[in-house]
Amino acid sequence: MKNSEVLILGIESSCDETSAAVSCNNRLLSNIIAGQKVHEAYGGVVPELASRAHQANIIPVVDQALKEAGIRKKELNAIAVTAGPGLIGSLMVGVSFAKALSAALSIPLIEVNHMQAHVLANFALNKETQAPVPQFPFLCLTVSGGHTQIVLVKAYNMMYVIGQTLDDAAGEAFDKIAKTLNLPYPGGPLIDRYAKTGDASRFQFPTANLSELDFSFSGLKTSVLYFLKKHLAEDANFIEKNIADLCASVQHTIVRSLINKLKKASEQTGIKQIAIAGGVSANSGLRSELQKVALLNGWTVFIPPMSLCTDNAGMICIAAYYKYLENDFSTLDLAPQARLSL
Ligand code: KG4
Ligand code: ZN
Repeated sequence: MKNSEVLILGIESSCDETSAAVSCNNRLLSNIIAGQKVHEAYGGVVPELASRAHQANIIPVVDQALKEAGIRKKELNAIAVTAGPGLIGSLMVGVSFAKALSAALSIPLIEVNHMQAHVLANFALNKETQAPVPQFPFLCLTVSGGHTQIVLVKAYNMMYVIGQTLDDAAGEAFDKIAKTLNLPYPGGPLIDRYAKTGDASRFQFPTANLSELDFSFSGLKTSVLYFLKKHLAEDANFIEKNIADLCASVQHTIVRSLINKLKKASEQTGIKQIAIAGGVSANSGLRSELQKVALLNGWTVFIPPMSLCTDNAGMICIAAYYKYLENDFSTLDLAPQARLSL
């Protein structure tokens, strides 16, 4: 490796994916993600089970990330880790591991804010490509299981939330509505899959009409629940018979709400560089609608590859690389934080 090349091992364990990645500057050499099937039966993430699974997965996942990257531990320049927001027990597994490794190797420890990392996933290059990256300032719609935010990004470390959900996050809305449709957790990707063959105009659901740039999704969840109750009373097989149209209609409603606020944010700020991030940005309806709206409004859009949308350590490496350039390091008294704003 050349002197100007910075090799970082990133670790992500904020929720239910144990992930490790290796980067060289802002290029990813590996990005290994171990999911946790154990939660499916419970309809949501069980924090204690998540912590235990992280504990079991972290060493093999880190080994695999180093092996795939072809990098030995002693070649690393820094260890990066998600410090929050997230489940405290899950975060503690990653943070403790990263602290121990940075101490053992005598290399810097870099703490990363998970929500900042989602945004900065837009700067990741993979082994082969030199994808265009956003220029500052840009807007990022960060949509995940726990957050729905429109972020004004002025620099790698200067991000301002200018709109957010007042209740459920978009991913939470997908997952909770999926549950009422008898789909297993996490339901977002399944709604996406069924929606592909469904008619989005078949059922109409209301969206909250909030002023400014904030979102609300809890009303949608309730209205789908009452709608289903009414129809199931007439036909016990209503869901099975209409699953594709139901999923397409729900997805269309959520996507419309996200895109409308994004348009408003672009009008208010005059910014036409638009990025998306977070698990829900893997949604094919959102991705294609964004492309359409971009053409009509002269936006340049940045859509990370699917593997960098949902939780992954690659994005932790990218966020850490820009902190490394600023010598922004942490000490061994770093403590994870369940709540952490941008
Ligand atoms: O960013 P993420 O992996 O974890 C959090 O930080 O929350 O986001 C997970 C969320 C879940 O709610 C999941 O259902 C949703 O992202 N999700 C999707 C899709 N893929 C993941 N929602 C809709 N369509 C998808 N294709
Ligand atoms: Zn996330």
